[in-house]
Amino acid sequence: MKFVKNAWYVAAESHEVADDLIGRTICDRSVVLFRDEHGTPAALEDRCCHRHLPLSLGKRVGNVVQCGYHGLEFDRGGNCVSVPGQSRVPPGAGVRSYPVVERYRYIWIWPGDAHKADPDLIPDYHWNDDPDWISNTGYFHVEGNHQLLVDNLLDLSHVQFVHASTLGADGVSNAPLDTRREDDKVRIDRWIMDKPPPAMFAGAGNFPGNVDRWQLISWTAPTHVVIDAGCANSGTGARDGNRAEGITVYSNHTITPETEKSCHYFWHHARNFRLDDPDLTEFLAKAASTAFGEDVDILAAQQRSIDSAKAEWRGIDINADAGVLQARRVIDKMLAAE
Ligand code: FES
Ligand SMILES: [Fe+2]
Repeated sequence: MKFVKNAWYVAAESHEVADDLIGRTICDRSVVLFRDEHGTPAALEDRCCHRHLPLSLGKRVGNVVQCGYHGLEFDRGGNCVSVPGQSRVPPGAGVRSYPVVERYRYIWIWPGDAHKADPDLIPDYHWNDDPDWISNTGYFHVEGNHQLLVDNLLDLSHVQFVHASTLGADGVSNAPLDTRREDDKVRIDRWIMDKPPPAMFAGAGNFPGNVDRWQLISWTAPTHVVIDAGCANSGTGARDGNRAEGITVYSNHTITPETEKSCHYFWHHARNFRLDDPDLTEFLAKAASTAFGEDVDILAAQQRSIDSAKAEWRGIDINADAGVLQARRVIDKMLAAE
């Protein structure tokens, strides 16, 4: 199974984990998520060490998780602390626990070697809980390998074809790309100059004519994509740093492998203008979930097609894949190192 395991992934949005236990598959491992009495999140292997029942079918009792079969109890470290009917806990009784950190309205998990789990390595998604920004969040379950979704986000030439009603506009796929790599990051910049705004930006801003539009993508290995996107009245210097006549939306995505053929897709869209305009919030939330839902359908169809391809099938790459190929090289190196 090919997953980079020494990495932080989003296990859940913060609001998902409340009083109940949540079972979720992450990098092909069954995990149960819960909060202790202080509200601090924890993650354990979702498999009782007695007779395999998923712990997520049990319940939380104070600070421990109680198995729903014979009542063994586990603390947040995965140690079995109580066995009904006996005073002594058998030596070695316990389940694996995973490092967990709550940040940016997400609960992050580290599926790899626990001693390497440095919270400083969590990618920056501050827009999601920064008071200067308002952020819509969403989740999709995707019936496709996580790398297909990363590829999708690193090659936005598809917006013209897949997202005609929201993000698509003429001139996207023909605009030049500037791609560069820095360690475990890839940056892909695209400027679409002097073209009509796409529907989503036209609805969010007040543009009398053409705009200069940017898509500045930052990928952090293995699956974290931040897209600084927006547009400004054409010829007002946005490309040189003056965004006074434009609007910016951070379109941020983070993907968690589930199995080899499925993944969890967490996204949030943040803006720093018209913060107290709930109609605009709703308009943007709808545009984003419509657009990303279109990707979800594409990815599932792509995965089914991959699964049914015969051995003699040969694919090609195109210029728009420059960032995708750079990122895949970084991933190959990380997998080889693990
Ligand atoms: S299976 Fe969990 S207590 Fe028996
Ligand atoms: Fe898309």
